[in-house]
Amino acid sequence: MQPVLDTLRRPLANLRISVTDRCNLRCAYCMPEEEYRWLPKEHLLRFEELARLVSVFATLGVRKVRLTGGEPLLRHELHELVRRIASEPRIEDLALTTNGLLLAEQATALADAGLHRITVSLDTLREDVFEALTRRTGLARVLEGIEAARSRWPGRVKLDTVVMRGTNDGEILPLFDYARERGLELRFIEYMDVGGATQWTPEAVVSREELLAHIADRHGPIEHLGETSSAPAERFRLRDGTTFGVIASTTAPFCSRCDRARLTADGMWYLCLYARLGLDLRELLRGGASDEQIAQRLRSTWERRTDRGAEQRLEELARGPLVGVETLRRDPHLEMHTRGG
Ligand code: GTP
Ligand code: 5AD
Ligand code: SF4
Repeated sequence: MQPVLDTLRRPLANLRISVTDRCNLRCAYCMPEEEYRWLPKEHLLRFEELARLVSVFATLGVRKVRLTGGEPLLRHELHELVRRIASEPRIEDLALTTNGLLLAEQATALADAGLHRITVSLDTLREDVFEALTRRTGLARVLEGIEAARSRWPGRVKLDTVVMRGTNDGEILPLFDYARERGLELRFIEYMDVGGATQWTPEAVVSREELLAHIADRHGPIEHLGETSSAPAERFRLRDGTTFGVIASTTAPFCSRCDRARLTADGMWYLCLYARLGLDLRELLRGGASDEQIAQRLRSTWERRTDRGAEQRLEELARGPLVGVETLRRDPHLEMHTRGG
């Protein structure tokens, strides 16, 4: 089959699969509310359904798969899903994003199952900030998880840090040093106004420019590596060779290069992080559609894709949270933790 292009000539190359909407943390930038409505268990796609979909997506050009959540390690026997997807020869890159709490105990099984690389979210090195930010305890377990990841995937571990003004912006340099000392590639992420970020304000965003200025103050000149790729992170290098990334989704969106789509744990397919409407693949799968029929639906849907959600948000002058709490309660599919951060 020919690779498929959308209306802006962007290929479909990258699929993010949320394997559960549940999470064992309550990060302020993602799940700030007390109560959430969860997806019904019987709606969650089974591993054989997910592996089948990955193969169909591969026929359309998908080469990268990332497992996300919620917290993906909460999905029972996740390594079995990794094994199935890793055995699809067209998938060249199979990664996972985790908060790290359960990683120390699962790293070996995931690596043995064929997970190529891993990204751990790490927003602070201080237990008090961790508790304030996530409303749970467990920083020490996360750090153990990172150590386990370093030994299982040497050179292939990344750290993601969402910077929120007034919360963890005092830790930019300590986090930077932590990653540098361990040879981990850290990416600072601008706080985004998506899904569950119901308390987002423009003032709480620490921009790429501000971050770079802060790091340069301490570490000297920063070289922009200027790679052109579809990846959201721009990469930078210090004089001593340390590399790091910045994901400026809020102030400098990368929609024009976006080759990614996302699947929720119950099989809704969204063409953009900001999209209101998705395609129900669970209905197709369970209604008895053939691989060919599913591929045709995916193709025709992608060919009509016009999404450039983050860029459109940038054009809005009075910017607040994308969706209000009441709307999120009515449709949990709009949540970041449902569609995979
Ligand atoms: P690699 O560069 O391949 O390692 O992966 P990645 O950067 O796509 O993975 P990761 O899950 O670590 O994504 C990092 C962060 O970028 C996410 O947590 C989001 O904050 C942001 N992000 C991911 N996907 C999108 C997207 O489609 N649109 C926007 N605007 N931001 C995204
Ligand atoms: N802004 C930026 N990144 C977010 N994530 C979740 N919510 C947000 C947000 N509002 C991303 C973070 C986190 C991952 C699980 O999802 O990168 O590490
Ligand atoms: Fe892609 Fe939408 Fe994110 Fe832009 S906002 S990068 S189009 S998912």
